[in-house]
Amino acid sequence: MKVTVVGAGNVGATCANVIATNDFVREVVLLDIKEGIAEGKSLDMWQTAPINLYDTRITGSTNDYEKTAGSDVVVITSGLPRKPGMSRDDLIATNAGIVRGVTENIIKYSPDTIIIVVSNPLDVMTYCAYLTAHIDSKRVFGMAGILDTARYRAFLAEALNTSPKDIQAVLMGGHGDTMVPLPRYTTVAGIPVTELISKEKLDAIVQRTKVGGGELVNLMGTSAWYAPGAAAAQMVEAIIKDQKRIFPCCAWLQGEYGLKDIYLGVPAKLGKNGIEQIIELKLNKDEMELLTSSAKSVKEVMSVLDGMQTPVK
Ligand code: NAI
Ligand code: 2OP
Repeated sequence: MKVTVVGAGNVGATCANVIATNDFVREVVLLDIKEGIAEGKSLDMWQTAPINLYDTRITGSTNDYEKTAGSDVVVITSGLPRKPGMSRDDLIATNAGIVRGVTENIIKYSPDTIIIVVSNPLDVMTYCAYLTAHIDSKRVFGMAGILDTARYRAFLAEALNTSPKDIQAVLMGGHGDTMVPLPRYTTVAGIPVTELISKEKLDAIVQRTKVGGGELVNLMGTSAWYAPGAAAAQMVEAIIKDQKRIFPCCAWLQGEYGLKDIYLGVPAKLGKNGIEQIIELKLNKDEMELLTSSAKSVKEVMSVLDGMQTPVK
C-alpha cells in the first residue's frame, strides 16, 4: 500500500511521520513545492526507522507527481496556515489555488486514490478538491472532526482527572467557531458525561473546544500540527486497514440531516472504500439548530469559492 502526503510543512511532516512510525503501509511519499524540504524531512524520518523499528519506506519529492503514482490514499496539507488575528476563512483565495493544482496532479497519477483534505478553510477546501477531482464523494473528504473531538476529549480528561482513552465523544458541523460538540453523546467509560461534571464546567469546555485552534495560534504564532497530523494519520490507517471505524469526517451530504450539496462534519464509517456510511444521529431540536447554523456559515464560504473569478467547476 502507498500513501502520499502533499505539503511537508508542520502538519504534513507530522502526518507522514505518524503513518511511517505506526508501520501499516509499505511506502509513504512526502511532496512539497519548496526545493529539497520533502526530501530532507523524509530522509531524516527514514533515519528514525532503525530506532523506532519500522519498515515503511519514506521518500521525498519536490513537486514531481510521478513519484506519487499509484497512491491508495493522498493527504493534502499544502497551503498557508493561519496567523494570529486571521480566521480560517481568510485563507480561501490562496489555498483554493493550491488545493486545486495539487488535486489535478494527484488524480492524473493516482486516478483511483482516496483523498483526505486537511488544508483550511477545511470544509471549503474539501469541496474544492471534490469539484476538481471529479470522483465519487465517498473518496474525497476532510479531516477536522477527529482533531476537534480530540481537543474536547483532552479538556474533559483534564477536568475529570481521568484517562483520555475512556472518553468517547462526537462533534459535528463545520471546522470553525460554529462547530457543534454534543455533550448528550459524550461518555466516560460508558457513563454519560453529564453525570460526572457540572453543566457550568461542561459549557466552558465546549466553548474552549470551539476556539481550540485559535488558542494554539495565539500561543505559537501559527496553527497546530501534532494533533492535526496524528488525526489525519488515524483516518489513513482506518482506510488502509479497512477498519470500519466511525469518526467525525467532513463529508458530502446529499439529504442527510436535511442538508444537501454541502461538505460538513458528520459521523461516518471509514473503510477501504473511503466513506462507507454516514451515520444519522437523532438530534434534538437545539442540536439540530446548532448544526443548521453551522451549515449556513459553511455554505456562505462555499459560495465565496463558487463566485471566485476562476471558478473551479
Ligand atoms: P506549513 O506552512 O507548515 O506547511 C504547508 C506546506 O505546504 C509548506 O511546506 C508549503 O511549501 C507547502 N505548499 C504550499 N503550496 C504547495 C503546493 N502547491 N504544492 C505542494 N506543497 C505546497 O502549514 P501547516 O501548519 O502544515 O498547515 C497546512 C494547512 O493545514 C494549513 O492550511 C492549515 O490551516 C491547515 N490545518 C488544518 C487543520 C484541520 O483540522 N483541518 C489543522 C491544522 C492545520
Ligand atoms: C486548527 O484547528 C487551525 O484548523 C487549525 O488547529
